[in-house]
Amino acid sequence: MKNSIFHNFSSKTPAYVYDAKSIVNILNSINNIKKDINFLFLYSIKSSNNIGLLELIKPYVDGFSCSSLFELQLAKEVLDYSQVTHITTPGFNKDEFAKILKYTDFVSLNSLRQFMEFSTIIEPPSSCGIRINPQLSFVSDERFDPCRAFSKLGIPLVNFEKEIETSNINWSIIDGIHIHNNCESINFDEMKQTVHRVMSVLNKYKIDLKWLNLGGGYLVNSSQNISPLKDTIRWLRKNYEIDVYLEPGKAITGNAGYLIASVIDLFQYEDENIAVLDTSVNHLPEVFEYQYQPKVMNSHDRSNHKYHLVGCSCLSGDLFGEYYFVEPLSIGSHIIFENVGAYMQVKANMFNGINLPSVYLLENNNFKLLKNYDYNSFRDRL
Ligand SMILES: Cc1ncc(COP(=O)(O)O)c(C=O)c1O
Repeated sequence: MKNSIFHNFSSKTPAYVYDAKSIVNILNSINNIKKDINFLFLYSIKSSNNIGLLELIKPYVDGFSCSSLFELQLAKEVLDYSQVTHITTPGFNKDEFAKILKYTDFVSLNSLRQFMEFSTIIEPPSSCGIRINPQLSFVSDERFDPCRAFSKLGIPLVNFEKEIETSNINWSIIDGIHIHNNCESINFDEMKQTVHRVMSVLNKYKIDLKWLNLGGGYLVNSSQNISPLKDTIRWLRKNYEIDVYLEPGKAITGNAGYLIASVIDLFQYEDENIAVLDTSVNHLPEVFEYQYQPKVMNSHDRSNHKYHLVGCSCLSGDLFGEYYFVEPLSIGSHIIFENVGAYMQVKANMFNGINLPSVYLLENNNFKLLKNYDYNSFRDRL
């Protein structure tokens, strides 16, 4: 079914496509979990932030979570008055902080020094929190591990505890704590362990909270084993009566995003077929950053026609990988990369002056244009 819809795509490539139905299905399944247990659901806009996409997601969430002043401004532009924004970043900057407070409802400071500098100027309605690094690692690739050695992300739990014991800081200024220590996990036992570890320290020193933000990094949807998630949130609500926030990103947009490209040249290198696309790894930067091979619709493990799919920039390493197709490719054939909805469009760049892909929403079998770029978009950044 999806195959034939994408087959009908007749606009100019390259193009990012977000499948509205798949996004709404995931949002509904998270809201179904919410019916059972009480938590607040934010979408982490860093994963994908096209405005049309944010408008689609908005009715299903309690707010957006952000990582910079610009993301906050965008979030407030899209959200309704009753919806909230959260921010945490290692990059809080003195010059911007007053503006950040104007746009955020919840701010989680990332270090003890930041806490000393900024906590006293945070006033209601903004709520002051700190980001804690629980020092529990679950991610094998340290480039994605917020708890890697010497991590910059949050106050290490041991340092926090030491500070409580040795300083006379008034910790009642803190309304909440932010924890984000996972990546693409479907194991909610890891969340349970993390929460128990952090709460045992807060308990020991009788630090009361109003809220706890458990971050993103989990592929939340109702089809997985979510009982540890439910148990953890129920336990928190029952024992501490606090608001619990989740802020997934990739869980919402990852599988719902596609990049459609076209073959613009075909030639041989000795006996190998090279297919040049009208896109580049700069449109799917994580493919290059993390050297992974994206899935391509209608490619197979082994079939007759093997191609090296390559990007059209001057970088020799601008390569997507080897793919096999049942039918030979020709000029104009569409190549559809799947599961690329998160951390791609937001990181894409115009290296070599190659235009960015247009952005479409696939809704009721129609491709609705959300955004396109041109020479002015390129020039405006220079
Ligand atoms: C603080 C914070 N919250 C939420 C997220 C979203 O994570 P994901 O897209 O893996 O759900 C991230 C991702 O880096 C993050 O750093």
